[in-house]
Amino acid sequence: MKKKILFVDDEPGVLDYLRRTLRSKRAEWEMEFAGSGPEALALMAAKPYDVVAADMRMPGMDGPVLLGRVKELHPRSVRIFLAEEVDKDLGAIGLAHYFLRKPCEPGELKSMIERACSMRALLTDPSLVELLSRIDSLPSLPSLYQEVVREAQSPDGSLARVGDIISKDVGMSAKLLQVVNSAFFGSPGEVSSIMRAVNLLGLENIKALILTIKIFTCSHSANLSCYSLASLWGHSIAVGMIARGIATQEGFSQNRIDEALMAGMLHDVGKVILMEKFPGECRKICELVKSRGCELFEAEQKILGTTHARVGAYLMGLWGLSESAVEAIAFHHCPRNSTDESFGTLAVVHLANAEEHSEGGAKQRRGVDAEYLKKLGIGDRKWGGV
Ligand SMILES: [Fe+2]
Ligand SMILES: [Fe+2]
Repeated sequence: MKKKILFVDDEPGVLDYLRRTLRSKRAEWEMEFAGSGPEALALMAAKPYDVVAADMRMPGMDGPVLLGRVKELHPRSVRIFLAEEVDKDLGAIGLAHYFLRKPCEPGELKSMIERACSMRALLTDPSLVELLSRIDSLPSLPSLYQEVVREAQSPDGSLARVGDIISKDVGMSAKLLQVVNSAFFGSPGEVSSIMRAVNLLGLENIKALILTIKIFTCSHSANLSCYSLASLWGHSIAVGMIARGIATQEGFSQNRIDEALMAGMLHDVGKVILMEKFPGECRKICELVKSRGCELFEAEQKILGTTHARVGAYLMGLWGLSESAVEAIAFHHCPRNSTDESFGTLAVVHLANAEEHSEGGAKQRRGVDAEYLKKLGIGDRKWGGV
């Protein structure tokens, strides 16, 4: 079925530009163009849209008012702001799921809408939306990460300059060196400079570490056993490394290996958000885990109506992680609930997480979905060194 996309902008020139540049998507998208907020709301009253992309500044009903109405009347539509200047005060989840700076580069707009369509089920899950609506703002994509990505993507970008950019952030540099020198990475000898760390780990590993470190350093420590930041940090790095090990042994492409590492490191990022934003509920969740002996995600589902896996996937989707990394994060405890039936990032992260949660040498990986692995044909496969 074609995806229904509605564009709203008061400048006819902008709508014409969108019509022209998105013509190649006509086979997949049913696109409509409205010149004002009221016109858009009238179109939406007649039929639902999967995605609504609106200009921030319009006379009469402006973008924030329009998207506020869309949020209220059509909560299952994904909302995108098109704006000259991105106003951070609007918050990542307040009114829009995504922001795109105008004038939009067609490739960027197409990929954002594609991502929005594939994330729609997650972005508009009622209990997740209800929980997120109680948060004033979610952490925004770290600017250091954006700078590193920009440098890496520029035609004359270099690893040396990536090293320089990271070195300017003293806290990040210290933490990166600490991780690189920890047992997890098995570095050959002491790594004392960021440049050496960047060369040793490569760009993708560095990017994954920047995101993970930023998320963890933005949070305050909690004394809750189920959400202890210290053990979660070690667990996250370890799952990333195990996932990378499995993907490498399976002969996955380098992109897939990098994705497994990134998704592995960030798979439990939702726990950090929950602990930071809902400490009272997290306390109750921990008590439930203790009294019932259930899994943490089951207790979260009972008390919050959603899980750390879905919260984390939501944020990572907003931050622009690949669709399969987001899916791996969303379903890392219950892979059979996903539509992914191939041996890819989800299965790798699920296995790595189960492996890391298992007590050393345990015969049975803890929390593993044996049925799912059997379906993928890897029910009794073993990987060395993980
Ligand atoms: Fe988890
Ligand atoms: Fe985990």
